[in-house]
Amino acid sequence: MKDCSLPTHKECLAILVEYHVPPHIVKHNQAVAKLAVFLAQKLIEKGEAIDVELLEKAGLLHDMMRVLDFKQPDYYKFEQNLPKEEQVKWQRLRAKYKTMTHEDAAYDVLKSKYQAVALTIKRHRYMAMLDEKVRPETWEEKLLYYADMRVMHDKIVPLKQRLAEGHKRNIHMHGSAAKNKINTAKVDPLIFQMEKEIFEKIGLDPLEVTEEFINSY
Ligand SMILES: [Fe+2]
Repeated sequence: MKDCSLPTHKECLAILVEYHVPPHIVKHNQAVAKLAVFLAQKLIEKGEAIDVELLEKAGLLHDMMRVLDFKQPDYYKFEQNLPKEEQVKWQRLRAKYKTMTHEDAAYDVLKSKYQAVALTIKRHRYMAMLDEKVRPETWEEKLLYYADMRVMHDKIVPLKQRLAEGHKRNIHMHGSAAKNKINTAKVDPLIFQMEKEIFEKIGLDPLEVTEEFINSY
């Protein structure tokens, strides 16, 4: 479905500035958007229908509230680099969204103006795979979720490596180590299954798809 209320590229940049998204997260967002769009184009060549513009905009904004998940030392480092009035704004955002994940907070910020983008972002939470209400279903949702699981910082890496790094940093999880282990044992195979679904359709090996490979197209 083509959504008329998508942000322009300029509007996405303005949102990233307004929410003081750190430069390394902006770069990560851009790398995720680029990979997701590449995979979408390959799937479109095979006859799938995908709203590439929606996917690209969701990619560019998907981690706009990621700072909410920063643990205190990281957050303080981030905050120290902001001018005083911006520090106040982030303190307010952290207070307002303290019980939410960064995905839900981005959804909340974007939903009134850009509903399709907001919904796509809401479904990129690692644990969404186990939740019927927010599991990625459309190609746009699946490609955003998957591309995020292939981009470590701003580099495309094998899925296995990115998942291992995420688990090590515990970025996907909250709760006890034992519970997290049970969850990863359930979620990771579903992501590999998603990878298989995408790559069987486009006829490539997932490991072939690197930055250089994409740039050579
Ligand atoms: Fe991400």
